[in-house]
Amino acid sequence: MSTTVLGIETSCDETGVAIVRDGELLADVTATSMDEYARYGGIIPEIASRAHLEQMVPTINAALAKAGVTLSDISAVAVTAGPGLIGSLTVGVSAAKALAYGLNVPLYAVNHIIGHIAVDQLHDGAFPDKFIGLIVSGGHSNILFVNNIATDVTELGGTLDDAAGEAFDKVGRLLGLPYPGGPHIDRLSQQGDKNAIRFPRGLEGGKNKERHKYDFSFSGLKTAVARYIEGVESRGEEVNVPDVAAGFTEAIVDTLTKKALNACAIHGCDTLVVGGGFSANSRLRALAKERGEAAGVDVRIPPLRYCTDNGAMVAMLGYNLIENGVSPSALDITVDPNMPLDQTHM
Ligand code: KG4
Ligand code: ZN
Repeated sequence: MSTTVLGIETSCDETGVAIVRDGELLADVTATSMDEYARYGGIIPEIASRAHLEQMVPTINAALAKAGVTLSDISAVAVTAGPGLIGSLTVGVSAAKALAYGLNVPLYAVNHIIGHIAVDQLHDGAFPDKFIGLIVSGGHSNILFVNNIATDVTELGGTLDDAAGEAFDKVGRLLGLPYPGGPHIDRLSQQGDKNAIRFPRGLEGGKNKERHKYDFSFSGLKTAVARYIEGVESRGEEVNVPDVAAGFTEAIVDTLTKKALNACAIHGCDTLVVGGGFSANSRLRALAKERGEAAGVDVRIPPLRYCTDNGAMVAMLGYNLIENGVSPSALDITVDPNMPLDQTHM
């Protein structure tokens, strides 16, 4: 008998619904409210929650139609329970509970961040026995040691201040780019010289180098970029935006790849899986592959459409939980906006 999982993702601004059957993706539909935030320069949680509410039923119906299945074919419902925005999460979890209860099928409340890693299986196949995960999203930058994606994930380290995507969005604002700045900086940096300006790498010297070998700090870098721009402008000169974008990108991507591959060496892993919205960054993708090849590490990064938030990541992790015989979540669970990364599910 086949296992058909419907996955619901609503942790931030994307309403994602996907259907995974026996580890294969049948459909993946996403609606976003991102267009509403450009004028605010950031996501407004109340607008996001309301948009999820409006999009939920149409998105579920679209995913079912695309997959060519009906609700009676669904054998389990998976949903993001955290981390994320409390109102947004609540809309998804409420919908998932209603579906699971109405269809009399099990509910699996999963960790969004672990889903960003799990989704890679849909493209690159089964995971090896153990590997390192590098999470780079708008809210997280973490290094994970993964023994089993469903049951055994350890957080080795993470950012002490800003996440990589967050730093990109803040520097985007400094450079006068529209929100979210990440994709704009990516585009501009491709026209710039990455060696023209050398911005500092955080936690690279002295005691910090060993103590924080799996941690990141990007807020000093952000300040360095602000100082640099002020300096140029105070001399009445024009800022070379592509060069700033390229130098800034290099500082972040250099640190992320170096530390993740160092974790692979220390933990004896020959595979690195990269996930999260920032893994769409073209320079990160290129440098991770290049350095991975040199270190004999297979670097797996999902295709662009699976990097930003989507339902497929949730449905896939739900499928992994079922495969591993994990007990379903209770129907009275609540969301956890700060769900720890070593908790794969609730
Ligand atoms: O994973 P995600 O969709 O949402 C969270 O769970 O946080 O990540 C969104 C983040 C934003 O900060 C956005 O600027 C960044 O990913 N991002 C990028 C690129 N595409 C998205 N950052 C750099 N380069 C990109 N190409
Ligand atoms: Zn995400």
